[in-house]
Amino acid sequence: MKDRDCRVESCSFECPGICRIGFSCPALVEEAGPGQFVMVEVSDGPLPAARRPFTLSSVSKSKGIFEIVFEVKGPGTSSLASSAPGRSCRVMGPLGRGYETSADRWLLVGGGLGAAGFPFLAASVRSARVLLGASCSDALVRTGGEAEYATEDGSAGRRGLVTDLLDGLDLASFDAIAVCGPTPMMKAVVEAVPDDLRPRVQVSLESRMGCGWGACGGCAIPASAGGYLKCCVDGPVVTAQAVDWSRMGGGLV
Ligand SMILES: Cc1cc2nc3c(=O)[nH]c(=O)nc-3n(C[C@H](O)[C@H](O)[C@H](O)COP(=O)(O)OP(=O)(O)OC[C@H]3O[C@@H](n4cnc5c(N)ncnc54)[C@H](O)[C@@H]3O)c2cc1C
Ligand code: FES
Repeated sequence: MKDRDCRVESCSFECPGICRIGFSCPALVEEAGPGQFVMVEVSDGPLPAARRPFTLSSVSKSKGIFEIVFEVKGPGTSSLASSAPGRSCRVMGPLGRGYETSADRWLLVGGGLGAAGFPFLAASVRSARVLLGASCSDALVRTGGEAEYATEDGSAGRRGLVTDLLDGLDLASFDAIAVCGPTPMMKAVVEAVPDDLRPRVQVSLESRMGCGWGACGGCAIPASAGGYLKCCVDGPVVTAQAVDWSRMGGGLV
């Protein structure tokens, strides 16, 4: 893994609680693929000391800039969201396994900030139909291009859950299905996909992470083959069939 100095180019709030930061780092951008993540130094002071993981949301290879989009949750994200343009910070990455992008026709299904990486993925594949769900319009991560929305309060698109947008969709017409969001949402989407199409589903997993590069063992995901996957090096993107969903909590059968 590579650790580099990156310069904050921009830092702004998309809406209350959701921050977008653009970093300049041509070498990192050159190596990056959709679905990969970075471990970002969140503070110039001693605390919080641990870096935090963020999905690469979009990249501009011509400008050498990558963006992350994140929800301010605790001390790490609060500190990072106060970054001023010009700040220099250490960023490790790109890390992990991203999406396998050789398929042509993609369906992207995302919930909340889980869709943070979809702009990069949508820009990297031949065609993508995008379904996004969130609690309200402000919490939707816009991917650019055409997308269909479901919001729980009905403030954008259909009122309901993103899984409602799957109703009547011919899933067999897609060569690949990318799913990212809260675990119950990912389980519901995987459950909605017929058995014979499940090999086409790639899920982007999240777990608490310590190191981000395989050393600490803190990011275990239950594997269908038994034992555990390390989210940071075996993922975060894996096929839906690689995960033992019954041990992820909830009720996929
Ligand atoms: C590979 C990967 C990519 C990620 N990409 C994004 C992204 O693009 N945008 C984004 O908003 N967030 C993303 N996250 C989650 C993000 O890293 C955490 O929200 C952040 O580390 C919280 O740090 P904090 O110090 O602000 O909050 P903390 O004080 O560490 O935690 C605040 C709250 O958030 C919960 N939390 C912390 N980390 C996670 C996690 N990994 N998964 C679920 N809940 C968590 C804690 O349980 C706690 O309730 C990603 C996580 C991983 C593992
Ligand atoms: S975060 Fe340390 S092993 Fe995955």
